[in-house]
Amino acid sequence: MDVILVGLPGSGKSAVGRRLAQRHQAPFIDLDERIESRAGRRIPEIFAEESEAVFRAHERAAIAELGPPDREPAVARVVATGGGAVVDPRNRWALYRDRLAVWLDGRPEVLAQRLRRSPNVRPLIVGRDPVFAVRELAAKRERYYSAATARINGVPEIHGVLEAVEAAISAWRNPPTRLLDAETAIGRYVLGEGIAATEIGAALRRLEAGRAVLVSEPGAWVAAGSGIAATLAADGWPVEHVLLPQGEDAKRLAVVEEAARALARLHVERSEPIVAIGGGALGDAAGFLAATYLRGIPFIQVPTTLVAQIDSAIGGKTGVDLPEGKNLVGAFHQPATIVLDVAVLGSLPDRQRRAALGEAVKMAALGDERLFELLERDGTGIAAGDEATLESGALAEVVERSGWAKVEVVVADERERGPADGRIRLNLGHSLGHAFEAAAGFGDLLHGEAVGYGLRAACAIGEALGVTPPERARRIGALLDRLGLATSPLPYAVGTVLGHLAADKKHAAGRLRWVLPTADGVVVRADVPADVVERAATGQLATGSPA
Ligand SMILES: NC(=O)c1ccc[n+]([C@@H]2O[C@H](COP(=O)([O-])OP(=O)(O)OC[C@H]3O[C@@H](n4cnc5c(N)ncnc54)[C@H](O)[C@@H]3O)[C@@H](O)[C@H]2O)c1
Repeated sequence: MDVILVGLPGSGKSAVGRRLAQRHQAPFIDLDERIESRAGRRIPEIFAEESEAVFRAHERAAIAELGPPDREPAVARVVATGGGAVVDPRNRWALYRDRLAVWLDGRPEVLAQRLRRSPNVRPLIVGRDPVFAVRELAAKRERYYSAATARINGVPEIHGVLEAVEAAISAWRNPPTRLLDAETAIGRYVLGEGIAATEIGAALRRLEAGRAVLVSEPGAWVAAGSGIAATLAADGWPVEHVLLPQGEDAKRLAVVEEAARALARLHVERSEPIVAIGGGALGDAAGFLAATYLRGIPFIQVPTTLVAQIDSAIGGKTGVDLPEGKNLVGAFHQPATIVLDVAVLGSLPDRQRRAALGEAVKMAALGDERLFELLERDGTGIAAGDEATLESGALAEVVERSGWAKVEVVVADERERGPADGRIRLNLGHSLGHAFEAAAGFGDLLHGEAVGYGLRAACAIGEALGVTPPERARRIGALLDRLGLATSPLPYAVGTVLGHLAADKKHAAGRLRWVLPTADGVVVRADVPADVVERAATGQLATGSPA
């Protein structure tokens, strides 16, 4: 096996790594030393004379050079990583998958003390109050270190640390790969591959549940739920399950009534959580069930579609449809834990995956350059369900970047009451997107497909107002083209589309607030003239459609 040591500067990764390697007569690899020999200069010089980005590129290459993991039980290599190596999702994918990753943790005061005595210059710490700098780094990086297999906490003497690492080595049975483990103001967020059952178990234990009450629907149940149920049962959990109808049919008040009665028959009590396993429709309905049954019970979201993993499971919006419109009855109710397992996405139909990328393009357009590049390179492979995009970590990175960006926006503005840089940003492409979706009768167009048309229309409005540079609009359009999204005009009448737009919920004092792309993000404008909107909508419609 490969033992990977991660943690903040000063946590003792090199010292522990060297001693551990000696004990096991295994090679010791200090990634920072490898980076220095690749670059032909010391790390502080790379930072000072080139940039952090150049350093990170060397770091990524040094990690790639580790090659495939060793899967034998004996310790084959010990690797000490630089403190920031795990910030990059792809590095984490390489370092945590099929390897024993050990987080050496410690109190910031102790780490700062060690750094003061260390001869090594740490570019991100130097010139600052070390305790403050270490605390800040700890807060920013905890979610990455937390995902490691083992955490060795607060052991001051190297001997004690070595013994604790030895115990982790003996206990290691190659568990599923965790990539991110974050405690946030809107619940715990855990991402990984193959983690669903173990993380649901952990979340249930945290909520002191005595059994696992799973709420799912036939499609998600076959693809993921039944396997999860079997693993939970094998782990000793009493398991119950309630199935709602498949697809949008789950989002009806009558279905929620039936499901609430099923929970009542199971004697589900006020503190007992339910586990929602399914896509966005199932999550919205089961979330609303959790929000209202006994005036609110805890719930665990286990999104099984790409749309749900990057968007709908995050943010606490739950609800059902009425014949008069979508999502008209609902509640804000945050899950206790969101478990995102990219392994369950393999069975999704291509159209579902492709449509979900409409939301990912939106998140990229909000200002994530790396996500943009990732979608430009790997988006078509992800849309086609290409196994290589799972194996390379590209799929997990798209889920993490899109999903985490939503977490941050929602934490800052949970109820969408905030300023222009708040939750309303997430509406990019959605005003006309919803109108196109409604014009299609919510059947012909998937949500993400409609967002694709909405994004093109938002670019057209932005260009007309002079806020979207033409090259930005072209780049967004070219990415949608590549992904096969919103490529042929829609067969609806412009009057119908504008009628649905007028009924949109997101009005400020009667005026629609438009989220429009800029060179590297978005602005919110409430002063878009009606004729500009009409031209942008018409641009997405087949010519000759009756008004
Ligand atoms: N709450 C929010 O913030 C929010 C945001 C965006 C969208 N939504 C809602 O999400 C819904 C759309 O999401 P969706 O497309 O995930 O809906 P969905 O739940 O209907 O799932 C789509 C289909 O995929 C199947 N499926 C689920 N998991 C699968 C798997 N792993 N393998 C194979 N098939 C699988 C389902 O059975 C279903 O037929 C809409 O109702 C929309 O309103 C909510």
